[in-house]
Amino acid sequence: MALKGAFRTKKLDDILAAAEERGERVGLKRTLGPVNLTLLGIGAVIGAGIFATVGSAAAGDPETLRPGAGPSLMLSFVITAVVCGFTALCYAEFASMVPISGSAYTYSYATLGELVAWIIGWDLMIEYAIGNVAVAISWSNYFRSLLDSLGVHLPFWMCTDAQTAARMVAENPELAAQAPHLFGVPVYFNFLAFAIVMLITAVLVKGIRESAGFNAVMVIIKILILMFFVGVALWYFSPREMAANWTPFQPNGWKGTLTGAAVVFFSYIGFDAVSTVAEETRNPGRDLPVGIFASLGICTLIYMVVAAVFTGLVPYHDILTWTEAEKAEPLTKALGGIAPAWTSVIVGLGAVVATTAVLLVFQLGQPRIFYSMARDGLLPPVFARVHPRYRTPHITTILTGLVVGVLAGFTTIDEMVSLTNIGTLFAFVLVCIGIIVLRYKEPGRPRPFRVPLGPWFLPGLGVLSCVGLMIYLPPSSWWRFIGWLTLGLSVYWSYGHARSVLRRRPGVVPRTPGPLRLMGLGFLWMALALFIVPHDANPRELLAILGDAAALHHARTLIAALLFGAGLASVSLGLLTARRAPLQ
Ligand code: ALA
Repeated sequence: MALKGAFRTKKLDDILAAAEERGERVGLKRTLGPVNLTLLGIGAVIGAGIFATVGSAAAGDPETLRPGAGPSLMLSFVITAVVCGFTALCYAEFASMVPISGSAYTYSYATLGELVAWIIGWDLMIEYAIGNVAVAISWSNYFRSLLDSLGVHLPFWMCTDAQTAARMVAENPELAAQAPHLFGVPVYFNFLAFAIVMLITAVLVKGIRESAGFNAVMVIIKILILMFFVGVALWYFSPREMAANWTPFQPNGWKGTLTGAAVVFFSYIGFDAVSTVAEETRNPGRDLPVGIFASLGICTLIYMVVAAVFTGLVPYHDILTWTEAEKAEPLTKALGGIAPAWTSVIVGLGAVVATTAVLLVFQLGQPRIFYSMARDGLLPPVFARVHPRYRTPHITTILTGLVVGVLAGFTTIDEMVSLTNIGTLFAFVLVCIGIIVLRYKEPGRPRPFRVPLGPWFLPGLGVLSCVGLMIYLPPSSWWRFIGWLTLGLSVYWSYGHARSVLRRRPGVVPRTPGPLRLMGLGFLWMALALFIVPHDANPRELLAILGDAAALHHARTLIAALLFGAGLASVSLGLLTARRAPLQ
């Protein structure tokens, strides 16, 4: 039947043999050791998270009723580190057992089958591309402040997203006159964020080699700047004064602490990137686990100290009065209250450097994922095309740049951080499940590193704790995330399933059978429904809106419900007929 094969797995031995051959052809050198790997991890981890989200995580968001962690932010960082620790163990086992690049996508192709691998690959686009949207927004905030401190004041409409600008205009209606108008509508677009993404895209198209030396310099700058922040704070503010601001420790109870943990999860994303250079590692079985754990451990320590100092400097009730723009630059704002202005300029400069480095790493990573998926036949071959002169994946690099740049122009950092977190946590869940599955499917395969205490306990805790954090993310992120995955299913059934390299037969041109097209179309309608449904409501509230013709957003919810129903019908019909349709 036409559906057959959605759970076919790639054989680990085939993956390893192909990587071996590729390595010999491309000539990847096994040069990286544990120190380089740790620096690589820290390079991908420290960025917008610590420089931009701590204000919002400590204060919460009154508009979406998200409670703040207050001084318990330091505890939030520890909780998230433990959650990441469970997954890090699983990544370490996978990376040492399958030491090839491709990360979670490749691991799941070998264990959970093609459909799950596709879902992970599709989901990783959220981690990399949407994550970078948040980083670009943070970059633009810090850069604008830096220009401000140098006396260069950019107009607000070109460095603010539309939602934040609308809020600013509501508070101060005179601002609207400053913005240019298109057909009578004021234009607000974060051109600054768009510009940095375009600049990085241009650099990546021309090609830079990821150099371990460059990364090491960036890492040292980031760590020095964060230590500078801590040092200046302690110089002007004694630990005793700080301790006074740490009570009440949990102003919103455990809910605030756990919600804070879900938000600051963003600042840990990237330790998994260590596994992507497995093919360039001298002794993957030993060095990859060391690199993953060392980078996670060092970052946790730094984050806890920074969180303690930040919440010690600024009383919780003061953070509540900060504007959105101030919350987006918490570290400079915190120093601004106690230390000379030049100290904030230095921290701001550090934030710009740190976020630029993260932008580069993630913008470089996304095309690699596209490349792996296209090589497996799940995406069109154009996604694997390489520029004849520069030898870079120029098409996917430009595509990623445009999508990230445009989104960074009109979305808010909070919504992008939450979406990235939910997407990445989901990928982590699947990696933990993959470890359990592989212990049963291939118990005899050599595992240079093994998650201790058996296959169930720690990976199981990893699954539960990641799902636990996901629950604390807002409904808007859930709707968008599920909508994105549904769109992914639409693409898989309409394209990838029939064209997968695992299914290709010599002389047969792959074509998607009718029933699968029907399923693809159905998932597309369902995804549209999920995108247009009001995102601030949970399912129970949606049912209430649907039943009340006078409710706000009733018509929109009704259209979404009809689309969803039609999509479901189309998928069911496709499924039923596919059972009888012949294999192509
Ligand atoms: N962890 C990365 C950052 O905080 C994504 O920027």
